[in-house]
Amino acid sequence: MAKKLNPEWKIPEHVAIIMDGNGRWAKRRGLPRNMGHRQGGKTVELICEEAYKLGIKYITLYAFSTENWSRPEDEVTALMNLLRNYMKDCVKQAEKNKMRVKVIGDISRLDADLQESIRVLEKESEKNTGLRFQIALNYGGRDEILRAVKRLCKDVKEEKISEDDITAEVISSYLDTEGIPDPDLMIRTSGEQRISNFLLWQFAYTEFYFPDVLWPDFSKDDLIDAIEYYNTRERRYGGVTNV
Ligand code: IPE
Ligand code: IPE
Ligand code: MG
Repeated sequence: MAKKLNPEWKIPEHVAIIMDGNGRWAKRRGLPRNMGHRQGGKTVELICEEAYKLGIKYITLYAFSTENWSRPEDEVTALMNLLRNYMKDCVKQAEKNKMRVKVIGDISRLDADLQESIRVLEKESEKNTGLRFQIALNYGGRDEILRAVKRLCKDVKEEKISEDDITAEVISSYLDTEGIPDPDLMIRTSGEQRISNFLLWQFAYTEFYFPDVLWPDFSKDDLIDAIEYYNTRERRYGGVTNV
């Protein structure tokens, strides 16, 4: 029987996902790693649709890290080609689901045509009022903080902001996730329990969930399991609530 949401559960507003295990999924089937990435792309489409139906408002997916350039050249090329196709398909998908898409990360290192596809996708989906979907591409938490610090220093130098006015909120507003609430729940598939340079600043009070399922096999039921897990957690934010 298909899993159902318990109507009493709180739905996390923002879910961040480290989509891991594509390579192992392919290896177990005797397929090249790239087939795992291709299948993983299909999961992305499914999960964006299901997440919104379940009431999730923001999804942020880790698609390519600043460290993933160190993979073999043919894998990096295959991933870039997949992303290239994905950006184009996503325009249609965004129109259908009314999702608003934004890419986070340093896109200046990507090929010019891919950068252009990203701009088109962001522009075309800008007015949509459905799921807010962030794709982390050439993203690294440290790189994001570094870029933010440099921009902030420049603004201080140019007297656009004074040092005394810098707060945690100001720092958040210099990050790529400006205007997006911090994730409530982070899911990393494939059983690995680390954050691999994802959303370092934004994860300050995020709940973490590490299912063993490999990303290409991740389903709506797995997402419901994650929400169920989230509901077993008591978020204290440093305070005391169970006395
Ligand atoms: C995650 O799957 C996708 C990307 C990093 C792009 P992996 O490629 O890391 O899969 P495993 O970890 O080798 O199984
Ligand atoms: C994290 O997965 C990056 C993405 C999912 C895009 P990796 O597979 O690259 O992370 P490590 O190497 O296991 O830490
Ligand atoms: Mg991996």
